[in-house]
Amino acid sequence: MGPILLTGGAGYIGSHTGVELLNAGHDIVVFDNFSNSHPEVLDRVEQITGKSVHLVRGDIRHQAELEAAITTYNCQAVIHFACLKAVGESMERPLEYYENNVLGTLQVLQAMRATGVNTLLFSSSATVYGVPQYLPLKETHPLSATNPYARSKLIIEDILRDLHRANPEWRIGILRYFNPVGAHESGLIGEDPLGVPNNLMPFIAQVAVGRRNTLQIWGRDYPTPDGTGIRDYLHVVDLAIGHLRALQHLDTPQCLSLNLGTGTGYSVLEIVHAFEKSSGKTIPYEFAPRRTGDVASCYADPSLALAVLGWKAERTLERMCEDTWRWQHHNIHGYRS
Ligand code: NAD
Ligand code: UFG
Repeated sequence: MGPILLTGGAGYIGSHTGVELLNAGHDIVVFDNFSNSHPEVLDRVEQITGKSVHLVRGDIRHQAELEAAITTYNCQAVIHFACLKAVGESMERPLEYYENNVLGTLQVLQAMRATGVNTLLFSSSATVYGVPQYLPLKETHPLSATNPYARSKLIIEDILRDLHRANPEWRIGILRYFNPVGAHESGLIGEDPLGVPNNLMPFIAQVAVGRRNTLQIWGRDYPTPDGTGIRDYLHVVDLAIGHLRALQHLDTPQCLSLNLGTGTGYSVLEIVHAFEKSSGKTIPYEFAPRRTGDVASCYADPSLALAVLGWKAERTLERMCEDTWRWQHHNIHGYRS
């Protein structure tokens, strides 16, 4: 296969996927506006792999920039990561979220159509299942959205299904990620949120490294064994390898939705204790009221991805914590360290 365009390829999941693609012999073109990432990440990807990364600074809302990138490098497939992803911010700034995520994706699809590229992996999310009606979540679970970020993902999924109905020759993989955490084992790349982290693992890592004082645990009265929320955390390198497998599978026309998760849920307290063990640091925490919109438990049934792709998340919670810690304490202020 020719070069692959990674929109948002400088971000957390895109950079780890880039490493796996390069290691598997693919050429990659990163298309990013660096609104939530740092160009340094691409030097690190090159350092890890010993291969070079093509970079196009551009915005997915501009179709002409996308078309130029695809034709300049003769890209044969697109992995579309670029997105605004903060749930709380999406409730305050819905129009920005719909413009960046939905309008941006329409430009990606139109640029693909104009250049004759019809192989696409799309970063969706477990958030499209809304409030779980049963667990573990299967791909056939009803879809719904409880905030603009989630709704932007659901709208895009619907657009992709419509596109495939109208043009069945398209090869589309909709990947519904659960909770990606961890970092590359080199400690050179990892998650580097701007400002206060919204997500649990980067917050814990910043407490461990002394950037923040105390973790707030949102809710201790959920109907779970220890009262804290349960999620399906998966190692970002396993997730990246899932993209490689999915791309290999898109050798025939289809529109397939797949869960990428481990199938195992851990509570907030279990994550805190696992991180303390891996890092040797104490994580001070206090309980706070539930965060609006959070569900008690959410975890995947990942059996379809195993059956279809032969993919299974292999890395343990211990590995997720060790790798997060290695990244964070070698890069206390992330790529700006
Ligand atoms: P990230 O913010 O680290 O990466 C997204 C990248 O897209 C960034 O480099 C950003 O600069 C770029 N970008 C944003 N808007 C752009 C635009 N208009 N034009 C060009 N580039 C733009 O996020 P991530 O965690 O790597 O997430 C990647 C994808 O996975 C997103 O679509 C996200 O919704 C999805 N996802 C993430 C999680 C998670 O917990 N991290 C969970 C489920 C789904
Ligand atoms: N939590 C805390 N304190 C914090 C941060 C999080 O207690 O400072 C708790 C949350 O209440 C939740 C758990 O930790 O119980 C995980 O929260 P995250 O914010 O890390 O993850 P979410 O499951 O809420 O959401 C993430 C992404 C979404 C994505 C979803 C898919 O942020 O974009 O996973 O399952 F849609």
